[in-house]
Amino acid sequence: MTNAYDEAYQRSLDDPEGFWGDAAEDLVWIRKWDKVLDDSNAPLYRWFAGGELNTCYNAVDRHVDEGRGDQAAIIYDSPVTDSKRTLTFADLKDQVARFAGVLAAHGVVKGDRVIVYMPMVPEAVIAMLACARLGAVHSVVFGGFAASELAVRIDDAAPKAIVSASCGIEPGRIVAYKPLLDAAIEQASKKPSCCVILRRPEQPCDLIEGRDIDWAASIEGAEPADCVAVAATDPLYILYTSGTTGQPKGVVRDNGGHAVALKWTMKNIYDVEPGEVYWAASDVGWVVGHSYICYAPLLNGNTTIVFEGKPVGTPDAGTFWRVIDEYKVSVMFTAPTAFRAIRRDDPDGAFLGKYDLSGFRTLFLAGERTDPETLNWAVEKLKVPVIDHWWQTETGWAIAANCMGLHAFPVKPGSPTKAAPGWNVQVLDDDQQPVKPGDIGSIVVKLPLPPGSLPTLWNAEQRFRDAYLVDFPGYYKTADAGFVDEDGYVYIMSRTDDIINVAGHRLSTGAMEEVLAQHPDVAECAVIGVADPLKGQLPLGFMVLKSGVDRPHEDIVAEVVRLVREKIGPVAAFKSATVVKRLPKTRSGKILRGTMQKIADNEDYRMPATIDDPVILDEIGESLEEIGYGKGRA
Ligand code: COA
Ligand code: AMP
Repeated sequence: MTNAYDEAYQRSLDDPEGFWGDAAEDLVWIRKWDKVLDDSNAPLYRWFAGGELNTCYNAVDRHVDEGRGDQAAIIYDSPVTDSKRTLTFADLKDQVARFAGVLAAHGVVKGDRVIVYMPMVPEAVIAMLACARLGAVHSVVFGGFAASELAVRIDDAAPKAIVSASCGIEPGRIVAYKPLLDAAIEQASKKPSCCVILRRPEQPCDLIEGRDIDWAASIEGAEPADCVAVAATDPLYILYTSGTTGQPKGVVRDNGGHAVALKWTMKNIYDVEPGEVYWAASDVGWVVGHSYICYAPLLNGNTTIVFEGKPVGTPDAGTFWRVIDEYKVSVMFTAPTAFRAIRRDDPDGAFLGKYDLSGFRTLFLAGERTDPETLNWAVEKLKVPVIDHWWQTETGWAIAANCMGLHAFPVKPGSPTKAAPGWNVQVLDDDQQPVKPGDIGSIVVKLPLPPGSLPTLWNAEQRFRDAYLVDFPGYYKTADAGFVDEDGYVYIMSRTDDIINVAGHRLSTGAMEEVLAQHPDVAECAVIGVADPLKGQLPLGFMVLKSGVDRPHEDIVAEVVRLVREKIGPVAAFKSATVVKRLPKTRSGKILRGTMQKIADNEDYRMPATIDDPVILDEIGESLEEIGYGKGRA
């Protein structure tokens, strides 16, 4: 017997043009597309070629035109500053149009890039939408990155303007953004012509004359700017994400396919109706924040929540329940690590008793695998379905999910359920042959990818081909390994590259190795991800020192920890490293990072057949024990 999911899934693969063409009717187009799927340049595909629209119009103005002007569009709730604010769709339109006017007055036009480096305040979303309004391409940089990471992104995107704030607020400390911004611009070779700075009362800042302008003063008398028609295939944004080197990948998102896919997901995956309150507790600096704090809920006429706080400690493990109760949130989306933090602080769920969660329907989790223990705890305490779903910065929305608006399948703990419509997920072996159900292999998606997924990397088409299309011709390589069971449930087990997942944040161990290697005493190094009960994984460094270095090891460790924080940022959560005599390698010189990770996590491992010198593994085990890993793990 088929259900709505089976029908949608099959149609999306058999007739993608019909399927997504129908979904596109849900948006307001300035000019309809000539072709739903342009495959003339395969394996590079484009959706809705020839179409023109404006994403900001569809996310904001449209709702005012259609009678939602008085409905809350954004609710800002900030326990760290003890403030709250609501913007209706009419307010949002006014603010976005005026801020677009500010950018336009400073020369920003269609196609220009604008970097947004901001904390979780509504102005971050306003800035993104203002860019979309003008057809400018925004690139949001997460606040937890250091100045040099920001500088790399400035040089790659070459922005005409940067929008930033004086500070962000982390529990217990104020993060001064302005000095980081100034240092990044100093380091970058491509300088923006202007910076708009939101000066926050918690820590104001000085402005640089001739370059910086004050957000509040400039928006006051700004001339509102209208929505500009852009091609469906024009870029809406660039979001940098970790690659396998220190040079991040600039994932490009287009306007048309993105708007069509995201709006479709709100009903079909999340089962949310326009007018309801939808909350993604993430950060606008990540893809989850782009898709589900900003674009998807607004495109669907939902109220979205901009929450500036943490799941615990702001002020307690009941904060999430307070927000759900206070704003009548129907559906929430966050990362499993947030729930592990809440569970750690409030294992019995005592805070839940203080709030009314009767209107809360579903919790969605993503960013890392939801471990069965956390899933079961959340189901038991919340008494609502808890849905793990799997996606990547590149895909922009879920590759696999329990599509609650189509058909709710029974949950299998450890699985994000089935491939979502549009995603022809396959598991292949190294010879590019399909494996049997239940067997592990590389997870790939048959091309073309559905709308909303990346069409290319910014200024790096060859890197796009090399990273995603070359290893499995005809398929997109997800770089995740796993299996699909007899019932079609997908299981994501690990990455096939050096990406690790720390508190739902995607980080490259290769990038950290590049930093460690800069230390003058380090001859050779390796960074691996080790298991952590709260954050899922944490990075751990190994260093071989140059001969003749006899400084205390703890000094060198402290210096590299500082260096990673300075070069990549606090978000790397790099706090542990150890000095070893040698690194284990294969005879061809490849460092055996996987084996080191198993030793650190005290897991069984098979001696690699190609190992150069097995004795080194014993030495590694001893060094790890000294710092509380391996056999020394509690
Ligand atoms: N600006 C500046 N610094 C930031 C930052 C930001 N926006 N976000 C995080 N940091 C800093 C933190 O203050 C911390 O610094 P510290 O080393 O001085 O303590 C460091 O980066 C690491 O942050 P994080 O990994 O988030 O750890 P945490 O201990 O502060 O919080 C959790 C742990 C689990 C509560 C937190 O990670 C969380 O809420 N996660 C939710 C997951 C999420 O939003 N994922 C996004 C994808 S869905
Ligand atoms: P990011 O690009 O930051 O969204 O990270 C994407 C990576 O996070 C994926 O390639 C997976 O390795 C991992 N990931 C995200 N969501 C899940 C999930 N639900 N289950 C397992 N892994 C996930």
